[in-house]
Amino acid sequence: MDQGTIRMSTEIASVSGRRVWDSRGRPTVETEVRLAGGAVGRAIAPAGASTGSAEAVDKRDGGTAFGGLDVMQAVAAVNAEIANTLRDRDACDQAGADQAMIELDGTPNKSRLGGNALVATSMAIAHAAANQQGVPLWRHLGGKRDDFKLPLPEIQIFGGGAHAGRRVDVQDFMVIAVGAGSYEQSLEWTAEVYRAAGRIMQDAGLMRGVADEGGFWPAFDSNEQALDFLVRAIEKAGYAPGSEIAISLDIAATDFGRNGQYRLSADRKTVDADGLSELLLGWLDRYPIVAIEDPLGEDDGEALARFTAAAGSKVEVIGDDFLCTTASRIEAAADIGACNAALIKPNQAGTLSETKAALDAARAAGWASIVSARSGETEDVTIVHLAVGWGVKQLKVGSFARSERMAKWNEGLRIAERLSHSGGNLPARDSFPWGRK
Ligand code: PGA
Ligand code: ZN
Repeated sequence: MDQGTIRMSTEIASVSGRRVWDSRGRPTVETEVRLAGGAVGRAIAPAGASTGSAEAVDKRDGGTAFGGLDVMQAVAAVNAEIANTLRDRDACDQAGADQAMIELDGTPNKSRLGGNALVATSMAIAHAAANQQGVPLWRHLGGKRDDFKLPLPEIQIFGGGAHAGRRVDVQDFMVIAVGAGSYEQSLEWTAEVYRAAGRIMQDAGLMRGVADEGGFWPAFDSNEQALDFLVRAIEKAGYAPGSEIAISLDIAATDFGRNGQYRLSADRKTVDADGLSELLLGWLDRYPIVAIEDPLGEDDGEALARFTAAAGSKVEVIGDDFLCTTASRIEAAADIGACNAALIKPNQAGTLSETKAALDAARAAGWASIVSARSGETEDVTIVHLAVGWGVKQLKVGSFARSERMAKWNEGLRIAERLSHSGGNLPARDSFPWGRK
């Protein structure tokens, strides 16, 4: 740019990438965006372990270093091609910046530059724009309105599946404090349940440490034993299962299904899609479950539609691997009646604009949505701001331990404090499908 040209303060002056490390000790991409006005925005890409096949590609270098998981090619893409494309663009034009990166990449799944390079950069642009304007990110994303609310936390108590050596097949045994009166109170209640769960597992000799997202790594003999312990933990903490604290499960069935057959190793049996549906519908009858994610594999759309027809009026049937935060997949799923809620993960989409488009598609279908972290996380708290700014009613970030998780819950507390001054700190409980019992 010529000397003397007057620059808009929100124009992008520079973009740089660096390699940082995630909660599993694996490399990941951080992008830093500097604006002409001096503001800086920074964001870090998360990474999944149980990934859907239609996700934006998490680009890894291969080779021998760090198990082939290095990200130096993605970092180089940020520093060269992406930086050159974004320089001088207005950071307030998120859609324009995201579209420029999508076109620069040129592939349908962001495999050339890497979804990790793109998502870190896309989020960093939003942070920089917010910082330059002196507003919190949630307000920058949410615009001029004053009905912001905190989401209702969905918090893991036991970890299983790909996050805990497959000790149990179900990946996440979570609680949702549906009866709590505020975001703060939902964390307080969950903290008590987490402690109670730890104590009863210790007493039963079943404690094996913590899984990838901070939930207890249990030595249960069956998936149902985990459910029984979860109900006991809720009761031991002094809450009513169902009306005060309900259960949410992420089955992550793609991980143990192949060719329509599902191997439940904890239960020592293999079932087909209808058999798995029947088993899960039985759990919905016997346990206070209000949400169930990926109950069937990502290729089993028709079985998922049958499951949704049977269960969808009672619980949230959430698509994660099946939908991959993609507007067109959500629209197609809604057409066949598969799912009634969408998990929203920015790194599955690859840019904030595509993430928002997926959320809009879910809303257009009349679905609920849940903003979600990944199993590989960092101190980055962007998703909390997305949930508040975009008015998403649930937030899933793993358990109530480990700082990459607590950083998100704690960021919510800061936002709650700020909102409570304007009377806005209430969970969006009233609009939940199960309501308050
Ligand atoms: P992932 O797990 O980040 O390993 O994919 C989270 C989830 O399945 O919801
Ligand atoms: Zn999932």
